[in-house]
Amino acid sequence: RPCVVIAGGASGIGRATSLRLAAWAEVTNLDLVPPEPRGVADIVVDLRDDRAVGRVVAELPHTISGLVYSAGLAGTDDAGEVMWVNVVAFVRLLRRILPRMVPGAAIVVLGSISTSRHGVADSDLRALLDSTSLERSRAWAQSHSVGPVQAYTLSKYLVDELTVELAAILHPRQIRINCVKPGPVTTSLLPRFRESMGAKRIDTAEQVLGRHARADEIAAVIEFLLTESAAWVNGTRIQVDGGLGASLRARGG
Ligand code: NAI
Repeated sequence: RPCVVIAGGASGIGRATSLRLAAWAEVTNLDLVPPEPRGVADIVVDLRDDRAVGRVVAELPHTISGLVYSAGLAGTDDAGEVMWVNVVAFVRLLRRILPRMVPGAAIVVLGSISTSRHGVADSDLRALLDSTSLERSRAWAQSHSVGPVQAYTLSKYLVDELTVELAAILHPRQIRINCVKPGPVTTSLLPRFRESMGAKRIDTAEQVLGRHARADEIAAVIEFLLTESAAWVNGTRIQVDGGLGASLRARGG
């Protein structure tokens, strides 16, 4: 069975993905907390601790067919932490896992419909991605006056950009990467988005669509992207928002 690693697999979208994949893959969840209820393999690790991540990767299977990066923080935490967990730790984990990824492997990273560059220059974004520790990511956020809410949308902007950049780099190795961009999903992060982005934004999404997404509706798309059926889907950013973006645009919002 193919081995798939899920970062952030203990809850929400990562957990829903893990449950789906268990039907056909050996899933290894990396998370701060073990998944509840237990049932699939898991390794408890704090992605903020870069050395610990290095140790954990050494324990992973030698051939890996898939990586899902679903670990994430909303804009309620420290800005440097948001940048680190949402994007820098993804790049660092991927670099470590890549030597084990086999031709035909696929990567899916969680973006968001909410992205913004906040006018940060390319060279500054590059410097952030080269951060080697959470402390440096914190210092970066401070020196660029990036607060937690901006950090969230900036981290997701970077995930969008990296998806395209990495697809071109990884294509010769026959490894695909795609980004899934949800609108509001009913998970433990939703109350935090309400806090950071404002209740109006989250409530409007519910009014327009009648409800928020269920985690499994996002997981279904992630699962597809990991399979052979998606062999020709590469370097894309797929919005999975139930039509929220389209409806808001039609309303002029
Ligand atoms: P969630 O909170 O249910 O899952 C995130 C997981 O990441 C948790 O299991 C958490 O323990 C783990 N995590 C956080 N920090 C960690 C760390 N330092 N080390 C190890 N694991 C850590 O949230 P959800 O909603 O499933 O989020 C998954 C992804 O989807 C995130 O990237 C989020 O930004 C994105 N997303 C979610 C939306 C929503 O409305 N829920 C909307 C748009 C994007």
